Amino acid sequence: MYEKIQETASWLKKKMPCLPTTAIVLGTGLGRLAEEITVTMAIEYKDIPNFPVSTVEGHSGRLIVGKLGERDILAMQGRFHFYEGYSMKEVTFPIRVMYELGVRTLFVSNASGGTNPSFSIGDIMIITDHINFFPEHPLRGKNFPTGPRFPDMHEAYDRELIRQADAIAAEKGIKVQHGVYLGTQGPTFETPSEYKMFRVLGADAVGMSTVPEVIVAHHCGIRVFGVSIITDLGVEGKIIEVSHEEVQKAADAVQPLMADIMREMLIRV
Ligand code: HPA
Repeated sequence: MYEKIQETASWLKKKMPCLPTTAIVLGTGLGRLAEEITVTMAIEYKDIPNFPVSTVEGHSGRLIVGKLGERDILAMQGRFHFYEGYSMKEVTFPIRVMYELGVRTLFVSNASGGTNPSFSIGDIMIITDHINFFPEHPLRGKNFPTGPRFPDMHEAYDRELIRQADAIAAEKGIKVQHGVYLGTQGPTFETPSEYKMFRVLGADAVGMSTVPEVIVAHHCGIRVFGVSIITDLGVEGKIIEVSHEEVQKAADAVQPLMADIMREMLIRV
């Protein structure tokens, strides 16, 4: 695996116009931000050696190098989900490649179902911590030399970046929530009883991504900032039928605000 990561990184290095230290995983609801990037290089995942290929509707798969304002960034447009059938090593492969390329700060975004009764659809939740509910751990197996065998996780989401995001949101008058994101395998959305269980376990929101990538990034010593759009509610009395299309629609509606925060974060770090 390590050889593959190196191989992919050196292949990319030869093509990349610069080596950004900041990267972003453009999850659901950040398409608009992608449009603001002045692209200097874009390569489809299918053309990158050893990269898995993204398949889900609404997630195109390209690796982008470009500028947002004055900032050089590396962006993943589309990510790999465990529910698609990829192994945890595949899901987190791009993060390991990013580390090899010199990325030291990572921004992640996603859509999730709110389990906190004070949340509303369309809320932007800054992720303060997570609960790993995936059935397989991304660090299972031989330890990578990027970090310890038993990594500390007391601050997986960088507090300073959270402080900066709060300041930006306040400046712009954008309401943000804070909360714990629980990552689970999907592809089913939760039953009412599962939402209730996740709430009892300490989740404010539940989704099907992000946790594996964040664990691996943290193991590499990459600073992480994560944000989630609440696209539906897993709260007793407010649960209605949910579909991928609804999730996409709810996320799209908040795109401008989400892009506002992320753009400033990316430029300021
Ligand atoms: N559950 C899991 N994943 C999700 C949800 C949800 O309610 N909404 C968006 N992604």
